[in-house]
Amino acid sequence: MPEKTNTKMRLDKFLVSTGCVTRSEASKLCRAGKVTVNGHPEKDSSVKIDPEADIVSVGGKAVEYRKYTYIMLNKPEGVVSATEDGDVTVIDLLPQELRRIGLFPCGRLDKNTHGFVLITNHGELSHFLLSPKHHVRKEYYFETKFPISEEDKAALEKGVDIGGYVTAPCVVRLEGEKKGVITLTEGKYHQIKLMMTAVHNQITFLKRISFAEIALDSTLDEGSWRYLSEYEIEILKRDF
Ligand code: URA
Repeated sequence: MPEKTNTKMRLDKFLVSTGCVTRSEASKLCRAGKVTVNGHPEKDSSVKIDPEADIVSVGGKAVEYRKYTYIMLNKPEGVVSATEDGDVTVIDLLPQELRRIGLFPCGRLDKNTHGFVLITNHGELSHFLLSPKHHVRKEYYFETKFPISEEDKAALEKGVDIGGYVTAPCVVRLEGEKKGVITLTEGKYHQIKLMMTAVHNQITFLKRISFAEIALDSTLDEGSWRYLSEYEIEILKRDF
């Protein structure tokens, strides 16, 4: 006989995973009688529910179960894109209750790179978005030590040798002598820094400003995060 899947989860964990509350808010709302399970108030936030079958409401409004979580984080310099490290990681910037639901960064930014890191627990989608064959677009704002000539721009766009690998064609939009936006469809280790080295220049500031056609929310301070909207999740999954 096939094994029965145990889909039960704690009510507070369920509420937190939907992104509507923090863990402490979840227990407060339960104690206040504001949370119902199948129409009955549930004061104990630790009870196990079946997220796929039970109907949970908060303040009379049904809460939609989300199997996966998708977070946009504005990574500051000095934070590592990993789940565990000796240094502060992107996961450490999330509240405690979100550190136990299997979240990980989808791809890596260098420690001194700023900007958009997608954090999720959707392994297959992450794999899809990072796969070189899907050409997911990433935009970076950059500043350089020396001016970038038209020849350098053309070379970068055509592809440069970054140590035995010639980069794929990309788009560079200059916004000044020593700054601009580069759009890549691949993600080699230290790619932009190595590309600038290849044209005898040097990156002095780098920030990812969009990932997979989703722009970094300009209202997010460095170190802050928010859940992706339904619309942004749809964009992410468009070709998945
Ligand atoms: N290219 C780099 O050199 N560093 C990053 O963090 C991202 C792209």
